[in-house]
This record gives sequence, structure tokens and C-alpha cells, in this order.
Amino acid sequence: MAEKFYITTPIYYVNARPHIGHAYTTIVCDAIARRQRMLGSDTFFLTGTDEHGQKVERSASEAGITPQQLTDRIAGEFRGLWDRMNISYDDFIRTTEERHKLGVQEMFRRIRDRGYIYKGSYSGQYCVFDELYVDAAGPGAPCPECGRPTETVSEENYFFKLSAFEDKLLELYTGQPGFIRPDTRRNEVMAFVRSGLRDLSISRTTIQWGIPVPDDPRHVIYVWLDALSNYCTAMGFGSPDKQDQQKFAHYWPADVHMIGKEIVRFHCVYWPAFLMAAGLPLPRSIIAHGWLLFEESKMSKSRGNIVRAETVIDVLGNDALRYFLLREVVFGQDGSFSFDALVQRYNSDLANDLGNLASRTLTMIARYFRGEMPYPSPGGSRTAADDAIARAAEQTIASFASLWDDYQFSRALEAVWSLVGAVNKYIVDNEPWAVAEKEDEGSRSRLATILYTTAEALRIATALAHPAIPESTARIWEQLGLSAISEFGLTDLKWGQLQHGTKLGKVEPVFPRADKSAIERMQQMEQQRTTAQAVQATPAQTPAQAGQPATQAAAGPAPAVPAPAASADGRISIDDFAKVEMCVGLVRVAEKVKGADKLLRLEVDIGTEVRQVVAGIAEAYAPESLVGRKVVLVVNLQPRKLRGLESNGMIVAASVGEKGSPVLVGFLEDVPVGARLK
Ligand code: MSP
Repeated sequence: MAEKFYITTPIYYVNARPHIGHAYTTIVCDAIARRQRMLGSDTFFLTGTDEHGQKVERSASEAGITPQQLTDRIAGEFRGLWDRMNISYDDFIRTTEERHKLGVQEMFRRIRDRGYIYKGSYSGQYCVFDELYVDAAGPGAPCPECGRPTETVSEENYFFKLSAFEDKLLELYTGQPGFIRPDTRRNEVMAFVRSGLRDLSISRTTIQWGIPVPDDPRHVIYVWLDALSNYCTAMGFGSPDKQDQQKFAHYWPADVHMIGKEIVRFHCVYWPAFLMAAGLPLPRSIIAHGWLLFEESKMSKSRGNIVRAETVIDVLGNDALRYFLLREVVFGQDGSFSFDALVQRYNSDLANDLGNLASRTLTMIARYFRGEMPYPSPGGSRTAADDAIARAAEQTIASFASLWDDYQFSRALEAVWSLVGAVNKYIVDNEPWAVAEKEDEGSRSRLATILYTTAEALRIATALAHPAIPESTARIWEQLGLSAISEFGLTDLKWGQLQHGTKLGKVEPVFPRADKSAIERMQQMEQQRTTAQAVQATPAQTPAQAGQPATQAAAGPAPAVPAPAASADGRISIDDFAKVEMCVGLVRVAEKVKGADKLLRLEVDIGTEVRQVVAGIAEAYAPESLVGRKVVLVVNLQPRKLRGLESNGMIVAASVGEKGSPVLVGFLEDVPVGARLK
């Protein structure tokens, strides 16, 4: 029976839309899963969304929708994107599904019944961003993990006896060195555990959006216990159904949990401890990769420096993104994304190297052999150069396997491309087009050998690269006259399998060259996106902002709106509020105001007219980042002059931190220019 192979991505939070950071992990897992299937493993690839917790609760309330509405929408976006990207996941788990809830409660029950959960009380600092209790000095003190201000909470909680697992965890890390990869992460985790583990609070009474603790529904289960359990619940853990139980017994433990390096502790300390406590087998390995950086910092919603996968795949296709990420990023380390580097890689490796090899080889076979695969004649037309290609191909099959299995995707692909390079050189050196001019028998036989050699090397390169770039390799495969590349058994791959007489498919270029306009198109698309999805100043991104009132970001003294009459307790009537007219505007022009460090001059389109506004946001926003972005404008303010410029309206922003830095208000949904706020 085929060996099973179970691989997972982290389940992604639904308080942010998918970007190529998420796509990176998903693509890596997809490529691994595809290769495993080609090797004949009984493969299961799981992904999904993490939908509970305070962050989601807050993001939803900020957006004026229910948590369920928010999670439905964003989970749909993740799934829709993976489908567009042809991600070969076998299941997509959402933590709001009933099957998950049942499984998590079962996990809690098991851990409790085995004596690892007790009730206690906690008072201290909580980091909403990390969903973690932390050691921090007091109200607002920075979280030691992420630096964001913490909140003071005091509650009665259920605690998990994490401290009981110190020795067992250390034994695990030493006894099973491949459990955490790479070694640098393993060493960090070991140092953390050696420094002592404290019991972990695993329930909350301050949150509603979660899974109730069995028999005590005032509490919801800690999000990380909830989230981590997905790897089991998706496989049928906790289900009363026999088939589900069999599925769990078959696929669990997971072979690979693929994660980004920032969630190592949850996966490598908490997760095995939870599983040990529940009496369940442990995953075989947890592989932590580095971060995808954009503009020199980690691509993330809170930094506002994301690039969507859609932008790249619309312009260059799925395989361009996949190839870039797998080839350019040294797996395990941080890697930078840039449109320039992407297009350069695409043109040099795909359009030039592989694309040229395929189109030259196939076109010549079509032309000189009426589209039928020639066969190298056994006679004297073979040369050392032909044998060298055959040997190089065999070596590539072996080295690719060992590099890929060691998660060195970039080097594995490099090995394939060095074969591709050698074959392209072989073609130039052997000049098949010149050999084709000669009409004698020997030349014909020589031509057959050259073209068979190139086609066979192309076939091998294509089969090896398939898990990384499945769509284009499937097309090359078809053009070679072969069928169903994804069902091709990689274990059998060797030189000389290409059959004489195989009829080629329709020969077409697979990788059209990209020019400079591709970069411009992608940049423009990203700019339009920032407009359509104006980044929200949600507490979810920066907990410090929670509860801070929206303030106005125009510079200068208090606005000259007629002051609404306030009652004794400071409240105003709805009519007073209605006097303030606010609407959605689109920034057309943004530039610095000379001699004023804090001011930007904006031209804002509000549908009926374009307003000039002078706003005190220059320290927080680069002018070019604002062009094309939607903002909220107070439109019925009396105009006033700032640095000699008339300011006709005021942009609304949250005021954040001690310095009161402005964060512009925006919308999750697309909103039309001119829409009134009420
Ligand atoms: N919901 C938790 C994970 C729970 S798993 C039981 C979470 N979600 S997340 O949406 O923040 O996703 C984090 C993961 O997305 C990272 O661990 C990584 O796999 C991927 N990435 C998100 N941004 C990334 C980069 N900029 N670079 C590389 N990977 C990135 O944490």
C-alpha cells in the first residue's frame, strides 16, 4: 500500500485578506504535495482559515458587520484565491465549522480528563495581537513578542499544565532532531524551553467569539488551542462518525506542519505539549520558513506593505509567482519580493531558458520529423556530447530528489536549470539546423540523435519541475505528445523512456516574454488595490488604537464647524451629529508642502468636485502612497488657510500612540467616491 503523506499550512487569520506572504507557504506546501503524489504517496494536503478570537471580533465590529459575516467573506477570499492558483489542497478547514468545534471540545475534554487542566485566576498584561498573556510591566507596556502595547486583564481561567512538559519536550527535540527544522529554530525553541515553562491560560471569559469550554460555556477556549487542533479535527478527530475516525487513524500524525518562523513557539512547544497531554501521537516534523519581505520589511497587513498574488498571476500567470518564490527565496531564510526581480527571473529562467529549449526542440521536431519523435539510431551517430547530456540528466534526477527532500527548493530548481542550460548549449554546439541542411543518411541519423537527446532532457526537466510550475510543465508535456503529467510516476523517471514515433501535440510558446510594461501594470494594479481596499485603522492591527476616538488629521487649530451643543454629560444629539457632513473621497494628487514637515497638499475627488485639502499627515504617509487611495473627508468645514494654501475640508484619521500619529480611516468593502457617511 502507498505510504501516506499528510501536510498542512497554518490556518490563516481572517482579519486580513490574503497576500503573497500567505501564498508563499501555500505554494511551498502545494509543490511538496504535488511531488509526493507523483512519487505515489497517499497524499493529503490541508489548508484553511483561523476564524475565532478577539482580533476577528474587533475587526468585524470596526467594519460594522458580524464576526460570521467577516469570516465568511475572508475565508471565501482565501479559498477563491487558492482555487484560482490551482492549489491542490484536499480539504479547507474553517474553525467556525461544526466538525472543528466538536473536535476542539473533545481535545479539551481529553486533556482535562487526563489531569492537565485546572482552574485558576490571572491578572496581568495581555497582547491582543499575539493572543497571548505576556510579562509586561503594566497597562500599555509593550508586548515582549511584538512590541505592541498590551492590555491589562484580570479573569478566572482554565490553565494548562505546560510546566509538566518541560523534560518531555526537551527529550523530544533531542531524540527526534528532525522534529523542528531548520536547526536554528530548533536551538531557539530548546533555549526557550530550558529557560522554564509556565502554565498556560487556555480559556477566556472576555471574548465571545470562540468555542465554548465543555461544561462551562462562560469560557471560550484559547484561540491557539482552538487553531492548532485544526490539524486533527480536519482529519475527523472528535467526530462520532466511524469513517471519520478511520480517516484520522490513517492520516494522523501529520508528516509536515509548514509554518512561518513567527509561530514556531505555538507549534513546537504548545502543540506537542497539548498532544502529549491528550495522549495523541506527535507530528513528524514542523518546518519553519523565513519571511517574505517587501520594501525591506515583513510583508504584512499591519505594515501596509502587501502585494496581492492576484496582481502577479493576472499579469504573468501562476507559475511565474510559484517559480519566483521557490527559486529566488532560499527556503528557511527571509527573502525579498520585488516586481523587478520577479520579471527578471521570469524572463531569464522561464521565457529564455526553459521556454527556448521547449520551443526550439519541439519546433525542429515538427519541422524536420513531421512532428514525430525521432529515435537516436543505435549506429555510429552518437557522440560524447550526447552521452554527457544523458549523464547530466540522470545526475539531475538524483540531485534534485535529495535537494528537494531536504527542503532546498531553490537549489533543486537550480539543478534542473543547469541541465536546461547544458542542453541549450548542446543545441548551439551541435547546430541541428545546419545538420538538417545535409541530405545524406548519416546526417539524418545525427539530426535524430540530437533532437531526441534534447527532447528527452526536456522531458526529464519538465517532469522534475512539474511540482514547482505545474501549469506550464503540463503544457510542455502535452506538446511532447505525453499524457497526464500529474499522474506520471516520478519514481520511474530515467533516461531513454521517450518513445520513438510519439506524435507531438500542438507546438505553442509557453512563456511569452514580459517587458517593462508588465512591471508598470503590476504596480498600477497594486495602487488601485490600495484605493479599493483602503487600509483600515482597525484595532486588530494595532491594539493600541483600540478605543481611541477617531480624530481629524488636518493640521492646525480646532475645526471651524459650528460647535454642536453638548449636554451636561458631554453628549450631543443626533441632529448635532448630522450637521457634520462626511463623505468618501479619492486622492488624486498628493505632495509635500514646502517648508512644513508635517503637511501634505492633497487634491481629493469627492464625486461632485475636487477639493484641495492641507492635512497634517506627512510624517505618517509618503505622498505617493496616497494617490489613488480612498479617504473620509469632512466636507462642510469653513475653508481656512495653512501656509498660504486654502484647505477645504478635513481628512478623518485615528490618532495613535503618545505622539498622536494619524492613521487614515478606510473601508474593508469597496465604497464609491462621494458616498456619505452617516
Ligand atoms: N492563524 C495563525 C496560525 C494558526 S496555525 C494553527 C496565523 N495566521 S496568519 O494569517 O498570521 O498566517 C501566518 C502565516 O502566514 C505565517 O506563519 C506564514 O506561513 C504565512 N505568512 C504571512 N505573511 C508572511 C510573510 N510576509 N512571509 C512569509 N510567510 C508569511 O498566524
